[in-house]
Amino acid sequence: MTEIHKGLAGVVVDTTAISKVNPETNSLLYRGYPVQELAANCTFEEVAYLLWHGELPTPVQLAEFETLERSLRPLDAAVKRVIDELPLTAHPMDVVRTAVSVIGAMDATLTEPGGIADPELNQKRAIYLFAQLPTIVAYDQRRRRDEQLIEPREDLGFSANFLHMTFGDVPDLVVVNAFDVSMILYAEHSFNASTFASRVVTSTLADLYSAVTAGIGALKGPLHGGANEAVMHVFEEIGTAELVGLWLDRALEEKRKIMGFGHRVYKSGDSRVPTMKAALDTLIAEYDRPDLIELYDELEKQMTERKNILPNLDYPSGPAYHLTGFDTEMFTPLFVAARITGWTAHIAEQLASNALIRPLSEYNGPAERHVTERSL
Ligand code: SDX
Repeated sequence: MTEIHKGLAGVVVDTTAISKVNPETNSLLYRGYPVQELAANCTFEEVAYLLWHGELPTPVQLAEFETLERSLRPLDAAVKRVIDELPLTAHPMDVVRTAVSVIGAMDATLTEPGGIADPELNQKRAIYLFAQLPTIVAYDQRRRRDEQLIEPREDLGFSANFLHMTFGDVPDLVVVNAFDVSMILYAEHSFNASTFASRVVTSTLADLYSAVTAGIGALKGPLHGGANEAVMHVFEEIGTAELVGLWLDRALEEKRKIMGFGHRVYKSGDSRVPTMKAALDTLIAEYDRPDLIELYDELEKQMTERKNILPNLDYPSGPAYHLTGFDTEMFTPLFVAARITGWTAHIAEQLASNALIRPLSEYNGPAERHVTERSL
């Protein structure tokens, strides 16, 4: 009997030099650097450069990258027109996916011979999406509140500009730093479902935009990216810390998956959580919301004690984005704005390996039979 690996759980399908997720040591390295060190010492722009190029940028390289990225921020007019046509009932992840596919449709270099697989052109495409996504997400957040587009500023870093375009001002440094930390932590995580989806599409030599929209589609699911949005719905359902026990009794009885908890790879806790929780704590103090952290701590305590299932990154990032001021349904597009760096690094790596991804399956349907033999 062939051994079946459902969900590819525990199956190593390829090598990667981009990141190392180590459940034994509960650690995560981006190109060899511990993610905690990157979050404490680098900006998201520097981490994006590291994921793409394998080394942290020199000051000159960083200055060149920042100048280019900032020049690419203004929302493409065609993309704005398409977003304006989409109903406000469209899920923000579908808006983001549509915007990326429109950008792809407008990329004339895709029709050049070799344009689809050209590493240099793909790097330019990656930087363009990195620069456009904050403007797309910020604009979608604002139009849902009947507010006008705010043009990006070239004098602000990635995160400060993202928050400025969304809320009309640059919040305190505490808020900008917490947001930047979340972007760094969300950037990359080896062969997670959305990254692997991007690699599968890349392996057929489809274009980068098609691979990215496949990643966006996978990330929309609540078992993956959609969990940070779902964490806030859980908090809204529970209400206060005192009601956690009652809520959890019912949820576990209904066999519900508690959003923000558990992980396919980490079994003794997600290595990114302490860093994101520390960032959340700074926001709790900034916005004076001890009630939120009481509920957060109580649910974590009971999930640990009763199920021994620990939080993942989505658990602290949900309330962090809520306090920062984003509407809940915008949380997963924020994940996209960060993960575009990991996805595009993996797309480049998959392209270089040039190996079509096509696993086998074990047939368990009806034995061979014939149309002429069926009884009518
Ligand atoms: C992300 O892969 C990545 O790297 C993803 C990610 C990234 O950076 O890309 O880290 C981002 O996707 C984080 C995960 C976000 N999703 C959620 O928070 C949704 C809730 N979590 C679960 O759905 C679940 O924990 C998964 C899907 C994340 C992982 O599931 P596994 O490892 O496949 O484990 P499982 O579903 O086989 O569960 C094992 C047992 C089951 O109990 P039994 O059926 O054996 O009795 O643990 C239970 C599960 O029911 N369980 C949970 C649970 N997670 C696991 N029970 C309740 N609530 C949960 N959250």
